[in-house]
Amino acid sequence: MALIDCKLIDLPKIADARGNLSFIEGGNHIPFDIKRVYYLYDVPGGSDRGSHAHKSLHQFIVAMSGSFDVVLDDGTEKKRFQLNRSYYGLYLCPMMWRYLDNFSSGAVCMVLASAHYDEGDYIRSYSDFISMTNQA
Ligand code: TYD
Repeated sequence: MALIDCKLIDLPKIADARGNLSFIEGGNHIPFDIKRVYYLYDVPGGSDRGSHAHKSLHQFIVAMSGSFDVVLDDGTEKKRFQLNRSYYGLYLCPMMWRYLDNFSSGAVCMVLASAHYDEGDYIRSYSDFISMTNQA
């Protein structure tokens, strides 16, 4: 899978004077079943997160509050996405190097993942990632 497979996905938005509502169904709005949810919050200004890839994990990232950028790198090209609304998110396919930066104050980054936490699925060295993408 390549960078072209990673894209922004608009979520349903039920607009209501009482407040808007969006929802995400695994296998329906995003192309995988959800096994895990985690979130980043209280991120200090100037912090970077991520800087790794996953061998087989699919993920979907939503800015639940505030804004931040996600930079994706498939080993050949890079693309920066800004997330700043909770009615869309970014789908990340496996074997995609990523880092997150430009966190606004109060930003909350929610990540939906296709599997439980498994350190063995991480590629934490960029040079290992590049050699693995060259083998593929
Ligand atoms: P990591 O994925 O490296 O953070 P990020 O990519 O957002 O910078 O995870 C940081 C630490 O949290 C690491 O020690 C593993 C742990 N962790 C879990 O225990 N469970 C999880 O679901 C996640 C995402 C991380």
